[in-house]
Amino acid sequence: MSRLLIATNNRGKLIELRNIFQGLPCEIVSPADIGIDLEVEETGSIFEENAILKSVAFARKSGLLALADDSGLEVKALGGKPGVLSARYAGTDATDTDRVKFLLSQMLDVPLEKRQARFRSVIAITDPNDWHTELCSGECPGIITFEPRGLNGFGYDPIFYLPQLSKTMAELSREVKNSISHRGQAARNAIPILKNLLNIHKFT
Ligand code: IMP
Repeated sequence: MSRLLIATNNRGKLIELRNIFQGLPCEIVSPADIGIDLEVEETGSIFEENAILKSVAFARKSGLLALADDSGLEVKALGGKPGVLSARYAGTDATDTDRVKFLLSQMLDVPLEKRQARFRSVIAITDPNDWHTELCSGECPGIITFEPRGLNGFGYDPIFYLPQLSKTMAELSREVKNSISHRGQAARNAIPILKNLLNIHKFT
């Protein structure tokens, strides 16, 4: 059976993507599953660039069909920040809790009606046979809360409120998050591309 490498060291992303791709005719593996320890420097200024950097690097290292997600939070009142710097917003050694605290500290004076934000995800898929890379994307609008709520998900989920569900992203089950999230949309857009590639080649 072909293998698909989910090119991420982020446990939260891995769990969500495994869940969405579970029906595909391939074995889904993580870098840790196949003994790859690779940290790709995210030097791009847009999600697309960083997603490509990661999927190409992991496809080269593994020889497998590789799929990478680059994603982040864009907050209107902060001029689109943290954006591509979402993972590094509170410093390189910061935890999810530190990042949430830091973001809220930047928005102390922003009233509810000006707290619009969106999550964005760009997925890159690299075929190691010809290095061709395909892109898919998704986005999800919401509101930044004044304090964290909920224990599920990861990253900025506890402060990302979805008015249509009256819940933060961290109060949703994995299935419901995947059905509405930026990554869920991008991943569903990736399914026909993956099916086509898995049909043409064997990736082992
Ligand atoms: P990167 O794609 O590895 O650069 O990291 C993306 C960062 O954006 C994560 O570390 C999170 O801080 C944030 N992020 C991306 N997607 C989500 C999500 O679904 N929920 C919460 N935070 C997210």
